[in-house]
Amino acid sequence: MCGIVGYIGEKQVYPFLIKGLKRLEYRGYDSAGVALLNGDIKLYKCKGKVADLEKITKDQDTKGSIGIGHTRWATHGLPNDVNAHPHFSDSKSIVMIHNGIIENYTALRKTLESRGYTFRSETDSEVLLNLIEDVQKKEKLPLNEAVRIALSEVVGAYAIVLFSKENPDQLIAAKKGSPLVIGISKDEYFLASDATPIVEYTREVVYLEDLEIATISRKEGLKIVTIKNQEITPYIHALELQIEALEKGGYEHFMLKEIYEQPRSIKDSMRGRISEDGSRVALGGIKDYEDKILAARRIIIIACGTSWHAGLVAEYLFEDFARIPVEVEYASEFRYRNPVIYEDDVIIAISQSGETADTLAAIELAKSQGATVIGVCNVVGSSIARATHAGSYTHAGPEIGVASTKAFTAQVTVLTLMALSLGRKKGTLPDQRFNRLVDDLKKIPSKIEKVLKQNDKIERLSKLFFDATNFLYLGRGYSFPVALEGALKLKEISYIHAEGYPAAEMKHGPIALIDEQMPVVVIAPRATHYEKVVSNIQEIKARKGVVISIVTQGDKVVSEIADHCIEVPDTDEALMPLISSVPLQLLSYHIALLRECNVDQPRNLAKSVTVE
Ligand code: G6P
Repeated sequence: MCGIVGYIGEKQVYPFLIKGLKRLEYRGYDSAGVALLNGDIKLYKCKGKVADLEKITKDQDTKGSIGIGHTRWATHGLPNDVNAHPHFSDSKSIVMIHNGIIENYTALRKTLESRGYTFRSETDSEVLLNLIEDVQKKEKLPLNEAVRIALSEVVGAYAIVLFSKENPDQLIAAKKGSPLVIGISKDEYFLASDATPIVEYTREVVYLEDLEIATISRKEGLKIVTIKNQEITPYIHALELQIEALEKGGYEHFMLKEIYEQPRSIKDSMRGRISEDGSRVALGGIKDYEDKILAARRIIIIACGTSWHAGLVAEYLFEDFARIPVEVEYASEFRYRNPVIYEDDVIIAISQSGETADTLAAIELAKSQGATVIGVCNVVGSSIARATHAGSYTHAGPEIGVASTKAFTAQVTVLTLMALSLGRKKGTLPDQRFNRLVDDLKKIPSKIEKVLKQNDKIERLSKLFFDATNFLYLGRGYSFPVALEGALKLKEISYIHAEGYPAAEMKHGPIALIDEQMPVVVIAPRATHYEKVVSNIQEIKARKGVVISIVTQGDKVVSEIADHCIEVPDTDEALMPLISSVPLQLLSYHIALLRECNVDQPRNLAKSVTVE
């Protein structure tokens, strides 16, 4: 949530700030702003996107070689010009950007108001900034020391970057809970919420850790201390990110590009993890933990959003292949439920961004109670990747469209590999089935290619349904999580109300909604419950519902009764989510386009939810 950038060096900062903010817009896009130092502090901010900010700065003085920028996802206060970041301190001598939430801001604000401070915005961020100014003035401290002391009074999450008129050669940054990366190059430093704005300037980065404060000055370079004032030697990582992965590459939208990338991203998720002859599956990152997972009392999967749906697929996989009991939890519920966690539980945390606040908090809770935590993350070096005991990256490459597509199929691929490896080791997956599954898994990318070739057909289909007000998605067994994910995709980007349901549960409620106005998407591949799902389709048709069905190539039964069918290549039913989710992504995409929605940046959403 919220994207932040900063720079100190010899060059003009404005172009970096704008380009960097555009890269980070997936984190929030309701308002944007920059502040630059050129003798005096120049601050420009407005409601809207970074493109709107560019418009208002067009004829303004944007010179300066030290500056900060922000793209916002509102938490406290409406998205408007005043609440946009950066914020000035009360005396206007310090300027700051913030990503996170200060939970005790009401009490702090009252104290500061009683000490004569006035506030221009409704934000918690301005409260933190004035607290810093107050500590600095009261104690007559250098700014970085005032930041350190003020932050020890704060409850909540933050990544902040600030500078002041009085220290024109210094940028200060700190973090807790929200991510912050520092890029290091010759005579210049870059700061950002993730590495994407930095990668084209330097490949050397330092990931600031929680409760660390960085002071970057032109003369002395980067210095890091903890909130307890212990000096830290920065550890420099080498970035492996490719710039091309951050561009649209000829596609109209990132979402479409990412849908089309799936044959490649799934190959990347499998790369090096299946032996040449297909007889072994091994995930290096969890190798040393496999015995622990096999001995686990149960696996608890924690995740949010689409990652939670990948977790549901994994529940079927782990129970089916490795006979280990699995529970799938929303991280936000798990963390506050006072859950029973045993030391021999294994937690699998799934997260594309590796930054989701609720998932991170659930991990910390599980760790504090002695459980082993395995991560499945896409973003290398992310907070969740670092907070877990071990894990496997999904290697899907940067996902920029806010609605997750390739990250989902990459998560399911990695979880399938885990389940295969564990089932093999435990002896619960007979050789024959293991071999067939591995064989089928290797063919998934080319089968997805075939689904993508039906894009035009799916586009035509979307023209029949784009003005529907409700959609129902049904599936059973492995297709149930696909139904949930299909419904989520549609509501996220087209704002059509859509519900996913286990097909057999339809008769306990959703059937009451069915009439000729209700499109029902039924995921009905040839699988264990095929006949039962066919009966569900009959039940829908008997009530005049309109059925769009995802069926296995060559299907004769459903195609007779459903109104529309999209055929997908056959595979083992355990792998079908990898294929059947793709036409649903395309359907949502085309419907959203016809409704003139912003598919890459849907309203109110953000890709990385670093607040609870
Ligand atoms: C947000 C995103 C979703 C994502 C969810 C979990 O809601 O818009 O696409 O599935 O967060 O994010 P994570 O990064 O933990 O997978």
